[in-house]
Amino acid sequence: MRYLKFGTSLTRRCQEQRRLLDLGSRSCFHSDIFPSGTKAFINGAWVESHSGASFAVTNPATGATLASVPNCDVKDAEAAVVSARKAFQTWGFDTTAKERAALLQKWFNILMKRQDELAQILTAEQGKPLAEAKGEIAYGAGFFDWFAGEARRTYGQIVPAPVANRQHFHYREPSGVVAMITPWNFPTAMITRKTGAALAAGCTVVVKPAEDTPLSALALASTAKEAGIPDGVFNVVTAARQNTAAVGKLWCESPDVDVISFTGSTAVGKILLHQSADRVKRVCLELGGNAPLIVFPSADLDKAVAGTMASKFRGSGQTCVCVNRIFVHSSVYDAYLDKLKSAIVKDLKVGDGSQAGITQGPLINELAVKKVSGLVEDARKKGAKVIVGGARHSAGPSFYEPTLLADIKPQMDIANTEIFGPVAAVVKFDSEEQVIKLANNTRMGLAGYFFSQDVAQIFRVARRLEVGMVGVNEGVMSSAEAAFGGVKESGLGREGASQGMDEFTEWKYVCLGGL
Ligand code: SIN
Repeated sequence: MRYLKFGTSLTRRCQEQRRLLDLGSRSCFHSDIFPSGTKAFINGAWVESHSGASFAVTNPATGATLASVPNCDVKDAEAAVVSARKAFQTWGFDTTAKERAALLQKWFNILMKRQDELAQILTAEQGKPLAEAKGEIAYGAGFFDWFAGEARRTYGQIVPAPVANRQHFHYREPSGVVAMITPWNFPTAMITRKTGAALAAGCTVVVKPAEDTPLSALALASTAKEAGIPDGVFNVVTAARQNTAAVGKLWCESPDVDVISFTGSTAVGKILLHQSADRVKRVCLELGGNAPLIVFPSADLDKAVAGTMASKFRGSGQTCVCVNRIFVHSSVYDAYLDKLKSAIVKDLKVGDGSQAGITQGPLINELAVKKVSGLVEDARKKGAKVIVGGARHSAGPSFYEPTLLADIKPQMDIANTEIFGPVAAVVKFDSEEQVIKLANNTRMGLAGYFFSQDVAQIFRVARRLEVGMVGVNEGVMSSAEAAFGGVKESGLGREGASQGMDEFTEWKYVCLGGL
């Protein structure tokens, strides 16, 4: 077995990856972050799957094998729940909020101390450029910092009773064991956003990270141990695609799991919701988006273009809050397209995310490229104008060119699909009323953006967009302090902010009588 060392220069690391690939060898991360190799993490121990099965993790930029991780199945997933249930007795009831806060704060400090190393792992398995990966580590760690504070502000209520001899107390208690199923587009932050709130509330956690990006989750497990998070409080079960559905079903149906928290596609979210119904289980869902971005005549066009670039091309277009449909008023349509084209050509550089200066990494796999290609071809055939890009990129099979399409019409597939790729699709509109109807004409409702300098219009449109989050003159609005979540088929519940605690706490009413 050959080892790939973090801490060596990025160029050397890439050369090494390529060499291993050429040799046909399997490689494995070797770093003090994985003291026993890349194994699952259950009850504070690094473990193989009980069957001994494993699967390979690859770098989407180069195709190189990075590591092999356990392919856990329902038996391993059940063991993780047993460990989380046991730990909940202590973590949920005997640990004080102040103690939980101190541990979360320590975990935050460790993530920030190891930011570079964690970012390299993230880029290697996910593909996003190193600067963006570092940003994700800081963003993700920020949830521990924020929820360390929220742990201590989980206030109850005493409400005046309707009779003289009683007191009505309302306590907020931890919900119990939380099972998390997390996506590949934010391999760190989507785990920390849920885990920060869950641990602050006194819940314990089992995580099944995406099969494409388990290494960042295991790195989190390692830093949890380093921070002194007690055994069983945070568990990571790695599983390949063929075991994923069974693990999810087990957790939805298990009486020992109290909450399901999922970030991913709407289709999978619906399955988990159905599977949890018999147990009347709380299900928190952060699902797909179809974000509109509207440019009104009064908009500052430079700001509108900067906001479009930041939102559309974040993670190579692979975030749920990426702008998906761009509506531009006819009076500024040509000027906006010219500016957006220049920004795409000037600012975006496609390639292996570990190389300096790269702003656009690969898509997660070739299948994703095929989907994006198909949408662009369909639009082109139905009359869309390709202004920039419109083809696979020569950097490798998982790359697609940053693309700008104009004259998008409702009958094109791209107008009705979450693109999840680096394609900006622009539609012309003529009135506020028309564009609000167009923007709301979808079953999705995660994020929406618009650019306007007209104060009355800002308040009007912000209220009328059917989404959970609105960016006004802003293209990126995520932060630990903000309540992230959607309406309609984009999800249930909120993550981050103080609202994030609601998902993992239950109100208990205690009536003290005979006073
Ligand atoms: C997502 O794409 O699901 C998360 C995006 C974010 O946190 O900003």
